[in-house]
Amino acid sequence: MPTASNILAPEEKPDDQSFDIALRPTSLQEYVGQESVKENLTIAIGAAKHRKEPLEHVLLHGSPGLGKTTLANVISKELGVNVRVTSGPALERAGDVAAILTNLGEGDVLFIDEIHRLPRTVEEILYPAMEEFAIDLVVGKGPAARTLRLDLSHFTLIGATTRLALLSSPLRDRFGHTYHLDFYSEEDISRILERSARLLKIPLQPEALALLASRSRRTPRVANRLLKRVRDFATVRAGGIVDAASTTGALEQLGIDQLGLDPSDRRTLLTIIDQFNGGPVGLSTLAATTGEDVRTLEDVVEPFLLQVGLLVRTPRGRVATPVAYQHLQREAPQDLQQRLV
Ligand SMILES: Nc1ncnc2c1ncn2[C@@H]1O[C@H](COP(=O)(O)OP(=O)(O)O)[C@@H](O)[C@H]1O
Ligand SMILES: [Mg+2]
Repeated sequence: MPTASNILAPEEKPDDQSFDIALRPTSLQEYVGQESVKENLTIAIGAAKHRKEPLEHVLLHGSPGLGKTTLANVISKELGVNVRVTSGPALERAGDVAAILTNLGEGDVLFIDEIHRLPRTVEEILYPAMEEFAIDLVVGKGPAARTLRLDLSHFTLIGATTRLALLSSPLRDRFGHTYHLDFYSEEDISRILERSARLLKIPLQPEALALLASRSRRTPRVANRLLKRVRDFATVRAGGIVDAASTTGALEQLGIDQLGLDPSDRRTLLTIIDQFNGGPVGLSTLAATTGEDVRTLEDVVEPFLLQVGLLVRTPRGRVATPVAYQHLQREAPQDLQQRLV
């Protein structure tokens, strides 16, 4: 039984895939927001094409659902090259990545999602591959072993990560471009919702659009997912009309409040407030108390709470802010301000 928090968690779920693909922008022009990233990329892509050289390696980082995978595909399309998609956890052995690298064509893109989860041995193959477009293979065993250098096509590596800090510096240093994707403005989320509604032929009334835009955690994937849930709700309960009333009904059923917080966000904040008197509390203690896993807390729950100022990170742990107390209708302790630093 999926809880509302699963519905909102901005990570891929199988039933989202076809939906996601249908809504995924395929050009920089269609890609909404992130203006400075797009501007830089337009120049870099234009220059690479002009010089007939592969684009320098690109590292994309940002919270889940902000458009990293989409952007990697857009870049490949704009370059007019093939893209090979894999991920850190999928590349278990050095041989896995060697096989992929040797099969890339000139200028192709290799997209490695969750690149912070690459095993060390695989990462070491990537260093010469990224820098010199070659890999060193060890052939034979024992005293007869020797290394064989294999040349590769000039390719572009695009890495995506939710956790830049977990990337080793030798790997980070080998990217020519590093872009941070930020949470979107509400206007950008509105544009994304309008575009999706148009593509999915959902008649979305202006009040419904405004409601959805304000509760989508400023995250495109959440916006699209909410739109889909609201459509389902409207179909079953409201004769297919997506207006303010049916949207409010759907959001209520999903447990999404005025700030776009879902039950899991509220549970996290309430735990800090009620059980730890506002904090500071360490992440692992918080995870153990809420039953949420540490990675979900750190990757999915926390970034948005920090972004909207409901939570702060201090050297001694997480502290709920006065805004969080107010939002959850609790009275803030007298000394809260001192704990926020
Ligand atoms: N800038 C954008 N403009 C329009 N839609 C977007 C944009 N970024 C993401 N999306 C939508 O959100 C969904 C999730 O994006 P995705 O690239 O999978 O995020 P990430 O890889 O960062 O987790 C995509 O399927 C796409 O429909
Ligand atoms: Mg992705």
